[in-house]
Amino acid sequence: EKGDFPHYMLKEIFEQPNSLRNAMRGRLSRDDGMAILGGLNMTPQELRGIDRIILSGCGTAFHAAMVGEYVIETLARVPTEVEIASEFRYRNVPADKNTLQFVLSQSGETIDTLAAMREARRKGIKCLGIVNSVGSTIARESDGGCYIHAGPEIGVAATKTFTSQVMIMNLLGMLFGRIHHLSTADGMEMIDEMEAIPDKIASILKQTDRIKAIAEKHANAEGMLFMGRQANYPVALEGALKMKEISYIYASGHPSAELKHGVIALVKPDMPSIFIAPDDAVFDKNVSNIEEVLARKGPVVCVTTEGRTELERLTEDVIYVPDCPSYLSPLLTVIPLQLLSYYTAVARGCDVDKPRNLAKSVTVE
Ligand code: M6R
Repeated sequence: EKGDFPHYMLKEIFEQPNSLRNAMRGRLSRDDGMAILGGLNMTPQELRGIDRIILSGCGTAFHAAMVGEYVIETLARVPTEVEIASEFRYRNVPADKNTLQFVLSQSGETIDTLAAMREARRKGIKCLGIVNSVGSTIARESDGGCYIHAGPEIGVAATKTFTSQVMIMNLLGMLFGRIHHLSTADGMEMIDEMEAIPDKIASILKQTDRIKAIAEKHANAEGMLFMGRQANYPVALEGALKMKEISYIYASGHPSAELKHGVIALVKPDMPSIFIAPDDAVFDKNVSNIEEVLARKGPVVCVTTEGRTELERLTEDVIYVPDCPSYLSPLLTVIPLQLLSYYTAVARGCDVDKPRNLAKSVTVE
């Protein structure tokens, strides 16, 4: 039931503080600063033997996997790569018994993701599912895994399942980190940061009216560019996918620094650029890119960290998110982008929950 919400998508966006609490419930052990993921069906010895991780999925799940690559390599230093499931199934990826594959899927039924898993298992690669739908085909056929427990997602546009998948990527990063080089104290600190995320999301959701106004201002744009770096590059891809999917505005996501390598040719007054520029190591680099866009008369919307008010000197469309460590940043920065695409689609009179030509799960190739 939609309750007081006009669309399932908006309801699901607002469910995220809770769906994330459910993703973490019972999985964080404060005493030893450790993640508990029993469903992986692997002993600490087996996990320590893993020297390469492959993450696969489609669409939004692929973007969550890209965040996972950043998070797992940062926290655990285990070489990790992401393969779009539809490509993985037709590639012949070298792998051995020390390689572990995770497939990410909301439905657990996406044919390309299922085929990627079957192909990996045929080659003897152990494959674990990060799935929402309990008892789905991926959940049943995988060697184990971890449910994200986001609850049913009815809107075709994935929202709460993205953040829950990203949270699981963080639990995996912590787990692999702790069996290698992270200390108990490091783990405890991470748990504090993770547990603070739901309330931080709730505080972003309080700014919905402001985000709606920004969306309405740009709703007639010809196209949109989404820019971000590091773990926020996949968030730029996800913001662009959401925008295309439900508002039918052509949008593309890019690493901010790629601007000068071609994308800047698109900048003009009816082509806004949405920058994800939190207060991190590359903040100043993002600011230079923002200035380049403004100098070419491209409107700019910024998602940044509370306190970085200097961006208001550059544009009036600044959306603030609370501070957090960079590995958790996508959980916060994606929220304004979900709301931006939602209100843009509503302003354009689109059928938000059932966008044209799309199905909730893609079970044919
Ligand atoms: O059920 P899955 O997570 O495997 O689905 C994967 C994609 O089809 C899905 O994320 C799709 O891109 C969404 N509609 C994005 O909002």
